[in-house]
Amino acid sequence: KPTGPLSGRRAIVTSGPTHEPIDPVRYIANRSSGRQGHAIAAALSRLGAEVTLVSGPVTLADPKGVTVVRVQTAVEMRDAVLAALPADIAVMVAAVADWRVADVSGAKIKKAPGEGPPPLQLTENPDILKTVGHHAQRPRLVVGFAAETDDTVDNGRLKLARKGADFIVANDVSAGSGVEGGVMGGTRNRVTVIGRDSEESWPELDKDMVAEKLAGLIASRLD
Ligand code: C5P
Repeated sequence: KPTGPLSGRRAIVTSGPTHEPIDPVRYIANRSSGRQGHAIAAALSRLGAEVTLVSGPVTLADPKGVTVVRVQTAVEMRDAVLAALPADIAVMVAAVADWRVADVSGAKIKKAPGEGPPPLQLTENPDILKTVGHHAQRPRLVVGFAAETDDTVDNGRLKLARKGADFIVANDVSAGSGVEGGVMGGTRNRVTVIGRDSEESWPELDKDMVAEKLAGLIASRLD
C-alpha cells in the first residue's frame, strides 16, 4: 500500500489522443503523445493516490502501479472516465478529438474513378472535462489542460469557468512558443496554472517535472 500525501485518494487521469474512425482502416487523430498525461498519472501514484489512467492510443509504457484503461474514441474515453467515478481528483489531459465522423462506414470507402473525394460529415464529441466538472459525483479537484496557440491565459480563464474546473493548465502549443522540440509530442512543456483566483507561470520544464509540481499542488489543495 503506497503511503504519501495522497494515500487513500482516488484519481482519474486522461491521456493521449483519441482516434475517431472514418471506416475500418482510416481515422482522424492528433499529435498528442500522452507524455504529459502519463507523467501526471505516475506522479499522483508516487504520492500515494490510487490512479486510473484512461488512455487513448499511445506508444508509451503503462506507468507503474497505475490502473490503465485503454480506449480509442472520445465516446469510449467518456464512458471509461464515468465508470471510474467516484474519485477525489480528475486531471483531464487527453487531447480529445472535438469531432467524430457522423456515419462511420462499415466497409472501406473506395476511391471511385470520376466520383471525387467523399464528403465527411462530422458531429461533436462529448466534452469529458465539462461532463466531469458538472457531474453529480464531481471530484473535489478537477483539473483541465488548455492547448492554445494564442491568448493562452485569457482562453484558459474562460475555459476554467465554462468547464467547471478548479484549475486549467494552459500551455502554448504554437510553433513560436520557444519550447524545445515543440509541446505536442515533445518532452518539454511551459505552462501557466490558472485557478479561480490565482495564476502561476512555471518555467519551461520536462513534462515529468511539470507532472511532479502539479501533483504537489493537487496534494496541497486537498489537505
Ligand atoms: O476546449 P478544449 O479542448 O481546449 O479543452 C481542453 C481541456 O478539455 C483538456 O483538459 C481536455 O482533456 C478536455 N477535453 C475533454 N473532452 C473534450 C475536449 C476537451 O475532456 N471533448
